[in-house]
Amino acid sequence: MPRTKVMAANWKMYKTPDQTSEFFRNFLPLVSGHSRDEIVVCPPFLDLPAALEASKESKIAIGAQNVHWKEEGAFTGETSAGQLLALGVSHVIVGHSERRQYFCETDDTVNLRLKAALEAGLIPICCVGEVLEEREAGLTDDVLRRQCVRAFHAISAKKAAKLIVAYEPVWAIGTGKTATPELAAEAHAVIRSEATEIFGEEFAGDLRILYGGSVKPENSKALMSQEEIDGALVGGASLDPKSFAAIVKY
Ligand code: 13P
Repeated sequence: MPRTKVMAANWKMYKTPDQTSEFFRNFLPLVSGHSRDEIVVCPPFLDLPAALEASKESKIAIGAQNVHWKEEGAFTGETSAGQLLALGVSHVIVGHSERRQYFCETDDTVNLRLKAALEAGLIPICCVGEVLEEREAGLTDDVLRRQCVRAFHAISAKKAAKLIVAYEPVWAIGTGKTATPELAAEAHAVIRSEATEIFGEEFAGDLRILYGGSVKPENSKALMSQEEIDGALVGGASLDPKSFAAIVKY
């Protein structure tokens, strides 16, 4: 069975609630007949209610950009899986490289967040990817394997059933430099091989691995044509409804 692709938008720290509603007013008609892929939009926390309201008659899923591992408590600025589920959020990005680079996210906290998301029934999109120095030093495979081993530590295949992984080479994020489809596919194969070791062949065969890093309407088709690439996690080019629709419909 071919894997259904997941076309996901990561809006990062862009858009207000009004701009979110406006995005959906323009985006929904562009993808109304599109049933081939799953579409997920991950706006900032504060835009989640507007996104949920605007998308409620559609099949578009709404995701958050982070989740804390505790159910509740004195954790200023954090949001729990239960709080996200109570709103109607279904997906959550975990371990994005910007969290790792700028907000002290580690492989261990990624593991905690992932466990909490899966335990609660959220669908995590777990991000992995090497920085430029690691690629240039020939360390890409080691980095990807290490990030997977640590992120998936002490999670059973049964628990991980809904897991989605995103390969986002850090040097390709927001830089306009896209990994070639072949290079991305090679990295995806490494991630799938590590997932086979950790969770088994059947699980890894069904695992959706998305590519992220300067995905645009112009390169979406070539990337998505790779058998190893099961969708996209799109930053900058997902902010404009026409551009994201063109990427989705490649
Ligand atoms: P860009 O598409 O802006 O390069 O961002 C990719 C990304 O980080 C998605 O999570």
